[in-house]
Amino acid sequence: MILQTSASAKIILLGEHAVVYGQPAIAVPVSSLRAVTTLKTSAKSNSELRLLLVDLLNSAAADELKASQEAFSVIAQTLSRKLGITFSANEIVLHSDIPVASGLGSGAAASNSLAKSLLFSQDYPMEENLLNEVVYEAERIHHGTPSGIDNSVIVYEKPVYFRRGNPIEPLTLSSPFTLLIGDTGRKASTRESVADVRKLYDSDPAVVQVLLDSIGKLVVRACASISRGLLESLGLLMTENHRLLQRLMVSSPELDRLVFAAIDAGALGAKLSGGGRGGNMIALAKSEDIAHVRASLLRAGAARVMQTTIS
Ligand code: PMV
Repeated sequence: MILQTSASAKIILLGEHAVVYGQPAIAVPVSSLRAVTTLKTSAKSNSELRLLLVDLLNSAAADELKASQEAFSVIAQTLSRKLGITFSANEIVLHSDIPVASGLGSGAAASNSLAKSLLFSQDYPMEENLLNEVVYEAERIHHGTPSGIDNSVIVYEKPVYFRRGNPIEPLTLSSPFTLLIGDTGRKASTRESVADVRKLYDSDPAVVQVLLDSIGKLVVRACASISRGLLESLGLLMTENHRLLQRLMVSSPELDRLVFAAIDAGALGAKLSGGGRGGNMIALAKSEDIAHVRASLLRAGAARVMQTTIS
């Protein structure tokens, strides 16, 4: 029998990095980009469970493929332990359209899709709270000390207001809005940028805490703007968030170039999204300005520009 499951990508609208230190953050799914798992159950018993093929977009790197294999083992072991079942005699193929190491949650999406496959193969319900716990365990392989935001937004596939240690709150939107996602084309390790922010924090906790608190306050204001449909104010808060992320030293010349190209072309706001230092940035634009902002991002060196509507 052949079974297929999938999981979406995500972007962080505001609050990355500060979320690791207990500040709130907002993340939204990008349902058009997906990791897809195909699982073949075989009649042969006693054969081992294997992740046969990993096909990740933009990944030639052996360490990324190794991390996926390791994450898969963690998922299978965690599910076996929690549910008291042994998985066997299955062949699994993972294919993903989500660029790796670029702030779009490729690791959490792959893990979620793989965990769903395993549950599906045993006729277990794909219970979201269980998936969230399992994908979090796998995220440790990719991120070291994840806040839990990636697994939450990807497992529930809904816009979320997230604060570490608190129940996830769905986000209320008064109207849909469109974001452009500009790819710097440069891969960057979230594990490294998170570790560098930690070093910065340890070197000057008082100053860095002020930056983290300021990001948290922006997120709370952004939540109010989103629920009232105030896109101009949301855009300004996004740009302010980018400036604070620059001060946390997680931007890069490529990200800054794309962010300010988008704003110059009329975007309401723009910022890096995710771990930073490369990967993707996002720009909020009114529908009449989208084509212009997209062209400006491409002129400023974006490797590609995607579009997603948050509703
Ligand atoms: O996976 P990324 O690159 O989108 O980044 C995750 C967001 C961070 O706040 C930087 C880390 C975390 O675990 O929350």
